[in-house]
Amino acid sequence: MTPRVHVGTPYTSVLVPRFLEVLKEPGPKRVALSGGRTPRELFSLLATDYRDRVPWDRLALFQVDERCVPPDHADSNWRHIRETILDVVPDVEAHRMRAEEPGAADDYDVLLRQLLPRDAAGVPVFDIVLLGLGPDGHTASLFPDTEALTVTDRFVVRNAVPQLDTERITLTYPALNAARHRWFILRGADRRRVFEEVRAGQHPAVCIRDPEWFVEPDVVG
Ligand code: 6PG
Repeated sequence: MTPRVHVGTPYTSVLVPRFLEVLKEPGPKRVALSGGRTPRELFSLLATDYRDRVPWDRLALFQVDERCVPPDHADSNWRHIRETILDVVPDVEAHRMRAEEPGAADDYDVLLRQLLPRDAAGVPVFDIVLLGLGPDGHTASLFPDTEALTVTDRFVVRNAVPQLDTERITLTYPALNAARHRWFILRGADRRRVFEEVRAGQHPAVCIRDPEWFVEPDVVG
């Protein structure tokens, strides 16, 4: 049984081997990437130190969520994927959430239905969804007390997040939980408490099905 919490300094030291192990499996691999600060180091590593070990020709990148800003905005998750991976490794297949457009969520939902294999329930299946954990226990853009938490019939929605006075485009629980691997990455002593609370059954992140955690020592105390 694979251990569910991997502790490493930095977290990439334990995640990258697992990531490469999954990518070694034959056939196309579809990976959905979260935004935020934590994953940027991983994106850069994959495009540089591990560039020759990633089967880029069999890899398709997707987004877990996106802020409703243009793709060149400082807050854009896509901008960080572009700067760390797409501008470094040519010709990577990558699918942007066009969050600045009104129909972004529906369009991405259609895209997933077209490009991904489906499970028995017809849900698109990612090979890996890479998730962060916010201080309030949100993951993706599934924030506490927001409507997206209750969506069961769509894979991508536009979610109003009143606590941030904004909207986000986000994958929903069905899309995240259908993934073959659901991985959280976490660092920082400031996330220790929320990590413990999620593991104890609190917050939106608790609804991610049987995840693996790749964390740094200051998260586990
Ligand atoms: C986003 C992310 C979000 C993020 C967490 C953790 O768009 O911000 O998808 O869910 O993963 O907020 O962010 P950090 O990695 O910056 O701590």
